Amino acid sequence: MSTPRKRAAILISGRGSNMMSLVAAARDPAWPAEIAVVIANRPEAAGLPWAAAQGIATLALDHKAFATRAAFEDRLHAALLHAGVEIVCLAGFMRMLTKGFVDRWRDRLVNIHPSLLPAFPGLDTHERALREGVKIAGCTVHLVRLEMDTGPIIAQAAVPVVPGDTPETLGRRVLAAEHRLYPHALALLASGRARVSGETIQLLQSVNQDDALFSPSLESVVT
Ligand code: GAR
Repeated sequence: MSTPRKRAAILISGRGSNMMSLVAAARDPAWPAEIAVVIANRPEAAGLPWAAAQGIATLALDHKAFATRAAFEDRLHAALLHAGVEIVCLAGFMRMLTKGFVDRWRDRLVNIHPSLLPAFPGLDTHERALREGVKIAGCTVHLVRLEMDTGPIIAQAAVPVVPGDTPETLGRRVLAAEHRLYPHALALLASGRARVSGETIQLLQSVNQDDALFSPSLESVVT
């Protein structure tokens, strides 16, 4: 008998392109997670009607309608339990979560961030990466701890920074990698191939030791 798929929720605040990539991956019945519900803290989030049109349960929980953060998070927690959720995926969810919520979902709360953490936590990641002159950028999927953009790293993807890049062009390159990374990372977690061990993730998955990304690429410099 096959292992039951893990029930995942996706929390969004806006367009939800990462949510869409998770939903697409979950269409395969052999994939180890199913999307139980998509929840937005902004009722106007563009991703919500898209998810509903896919036949997925959706919920708009306007955080402004709650007197306190705790009240919002209690309602969110109740909705997650109601939907039988086992893993919560933040996908462009732009609201800080308090200790109460993070503790309740410890090791079952996942986030995607558009940088190679621990570099560039917070906002304006691509602008800051360009200002620092890094030659490799990327994205990270990690378990959530209380401090913003911290927690055990499940998987990362690297992309080159190209001469002439703007935050927009770099952002598009990183986002394309995000759309491939998040389904991969969630599958690792949901299948048990990524396990929490203290404050790091232990991988029961082969890693290609020969892969290296060089940026600029390795080619002879002709003078
Ligand atoms: C993504 O780039 C995601 O990594 C980022 O917001 C974007 C949401 O796009 N998240 C963060 O910056 C969280 N710190 P999406 O709504 O199209 O998935």
